[in-house]
Amino acid sequence: MDRIRLIGGNQLRGEIPISGAKNAALPLMIASLLTKEPLILENVPRLADVKQLERILENHGVDIAAHGRRAAPSHIDGQRMTFQAAEIVDTTAPYELVSTMRASFWVIGPLLARAHEARVSLPGGCAIGTRPVDLFLYGLKELGAEIDIDEGYVVARAPKGGLRGARISFPKVTVGATHVIMMAATLARGTTVIENAAMEPEITNVAECLVAMGARIDGIGTRTLTIEGVDELHGATHEVLPDRIETGTYAMAAAMAGGNVLLRNARAEHLQAALDVLGQSGVHVSQEDAGLRIQRNGNGLQAVHIETQPFPGFPTDLQAQFMALMTMSDGVSQIRETIFENRYMHVAELARFGADIKVEGQVATVVGVPELKGAQVMATDLRASVSLVIAGLAARGETMVNRIYHLDRGFERLEDKLSRCGAEIERVV
Ligand code: EPU
Repeated sequence: MDRIRLIGGNQLRGEIPISGAKNAALPLMIASLLTKEPLILENVPRLADVKQLERILENHGVDIAAHGRRAAPSHIDGQRMTFQAAEIVDTTAPYELVSTMRASFWVIGPLLARAHEARVSLPGGCAIGTRPVDLFLYGLKELGAEIDIDEGYVVARAPKGGLRGARISFPKVTVGATHVIMMAATLARGTTVIENAAMEPEITNVAECLVAMGARIDGIGTRTLTIEGVDELHGATHEVLPDRIETGTYAMAAAMAGGNVLLRNARAEHLQAALDVLGQSGVHVSQEDAGLRIQRNGNGLQAVHIETQPFPGFPTDLQAQFMALMTMSDGVSQIRETIFENRYMHVAELARFGADIKVEGQVATVVGVPELKGAQVMATDLRASVSLVIAGLAARGETMVNRIYHLDRGFERLEDKLSRCGAEIERVV
C-alpha cells in the first residue's frame, strides 16, 4: 500500500494550483442523471472519489468521456468531462459500488425524479460519525415518495405522475440532503421550498448548474431555496468551482512550515471564516488577482479557539488541519467540533509527533509545544490524513504517513504540489 514519506523543516515557497472542488464535482456529476442531454463539466479534479462515482453512474447508463489534452493550458488544469444519461438503464445503486463513498447515495434524488424509482444501498464513507440518512428520507417523503428499507437498501417510489413540490424544513443544516432535495425538486410538479438549506459554496455551484440546465431556482446562496418544477432539463456546460478545503489545507500547510505561497485560483470569500482565524494566529493572508497569498515569516503562531459550523462558519473539513497547526502554537487552543460526533481520529496520531491534545466530549484542548518530532502515523479519514502531512512538514526528522488511500480520494497530486514548493515529500510505493 502506498505511503508518504516526508522530512520536516523546509519552508514552502512558490505556487500551488487549486483543483476543482471534490464536493462540488460529485453532486454535479450526479446531476447529469436528470437529463438525457450531455452535461459538460470543466475543471473536474482527478481523484479516486471521482473515479468511483464514474463507475456508479456508468452502471445507471451514463456515458462518460474525459476530453484529451489541449494545446494551450498546462497539465495542472482540471479535466473537461462529458456525462450523458440518454437512458437510465438501471435504478439500483448496489452495495459494492456505494459502500465506500457516502455521496454516491445522492443518486437517489435524480433517479426518483426522472425514473420515478430508485433502489440505493445505504451509504458508507469516512468513519467520522454515524451520519444517518433520516433527513434525506424525510425530504423525499415530503415530495411524495414511498420509502421502504429492504436488506440494507433504501427502496423509493415516486407517486403516479412523479414527485410533487412541498415545503421541507430541515431541523439541522445538511449539505447532502439539500443537494438531493434540490435536484429532485427540479423535476417535481409544482413548487418546493427548502427551509434551513445548506448554503455551502458547493450547493451554490450545483444550483447554478441546474439553472443552466433549465431548472427554476430562487434564493441561491441563502437559507431558503424555492424551486419551481419543470417537465424536463436539458444539457449545459458548467465549471466546477475551486476547492475551498484544498485551499484551506495548503494555507495551513504554509502557515505550519512558514514561507510564502500563492494558492492559484483560490477565492477568499469561500473560506473567509478560516482565513480570519489564520489572520488571528499571525499568518498574513492577502487576495491577489491570481489567487490567495499566504505568508508567515519566523514569527510564532498565536493560539486561537474555533468552533466548526455550517457555511459561512469554520468548516468541519478544516478542523483536523487547524488542529495540526495549533499543536505548535504559543498557547492553548480550544477546538469544538459541532458537525460530526466522531471527528477526532487524528488526535491519537498527532500525539505520536509529541502533540499535547486532550479531548472531552465535543472539545479538544491543544496545548502548543515548541517542537514536533517525525513519526510513523496512520491515516484514518481524508481530512485526518492530510492533517498528519501538515504536522510532518514542521516536525523534526522523518515522518511516514501510512495507508494513504484516503488522501487520494480528495487531494490531487498532493506530494507533487508540496514538493514543487520546496517540501521534502515523496510517495513510496
Ligand atoms: N445528518 C443527519 N441526518 C441526515 C443527514 C445528515 O443527522 O439525514 C447529520 C450528519 O450526521 C452530520 C450533519 O447532519 O452530523 C451534517 O451532515 P451533512 O449532511 O451536512 O454532511 P454530508 O452531506 O454527508 C458533506 C461533505 C462532507 C462535509 C459535510 C459537512 C460531500 C461529498 N461531503 O457531507 O465532506 O464534512 O458535508 O460540511 O460534500 C469530506 O470532504 O472530507 C467530507 C466529509
